[in-house]
Amino acid sequence: MDSSSPAALEIEEMKSYDLPAIASLHAVCFEDAWHAKLLGRILTAPGAFGLFTRPHGKTVGFVICRSTGEEGEILSLAVAPGVRRSGLGGLLLDTAKVQAAKFNIATLFLEVAEDNLAARRLYEKSDFSTVGRRPHYYRRRYGPAVDALTLRCSLTSVTTMDS
Ligand SMILES: CC(C)(COP(=O)(O)OP(=O)(O)OC[C@H]1O[C@@H](n2cnc3c(N)ncnc32)[C@H](O)[C@@H]1OP(=O)(O)O)[C@@H](O)C(=O)NCCC(=O)NCCS
Repeated sequence: MDSSSPAALEIEEMKSYDLPAIASLHAVCFEDAWHAKLLGRILTAPGAFGLFTRPHGKTVGFVICRSTGEEGEILSLAVAPGVRRSGLGGLLLDTAKVQAAKFNIATLFLEVAEDNLAARRLYEKSDFSTVGRRPHYYRRRYGPAVDALTLRCSLTSVTTMDS
């Protein structure tokens, strides 16, 4: 990313032709890579949406959500290693919260590995709090399985552009 602030970046909705680039970034960011076909299946489910940014044509961050009724879930969020810690993860998360609120989602949930301190700190700053734990949920290629923490965030105070 250049010197432009994350706030100036355009956040786009994912379309099917964006999925190969999203899948490539997902593979860089996670042990368990989601290929483009799987992403397509997730995004065509009712209530699902994906947002991403590609300054200068390079996809550097994305977030994928789905909802059932008034509850939503963040399924995946990632920022390319070279541009982390510049506010992009926070921007994607905030934008997803606004989009979810527009869809009348009142509460967002997500799961995060207990040892993923960067993500946990990001979610904490964005008003998520821990409401549950799944023991040994994330199996690791190297090392013991890690617990998943279930996090929750109320969207009742999130302001949408329409309100
Ligand atoms: C988690 C992730 C999305 C954060 O993206 P990011 O663009 O670096 O996040 P931001 O720059 O918006 O950081 C916002 C805040 O999160 C916290 N944070 C982010 N990275 C951190 C790190 N490595 N260590 C400690 N805190 C961190 C900080 O509080 C930070 O605010 P600050 O920079 O003002 O201190 C990114 O590290 C990532 O893609 N990780 C791999 C994939 C992943 O784990 N996704 C989440 C799965 S649940």
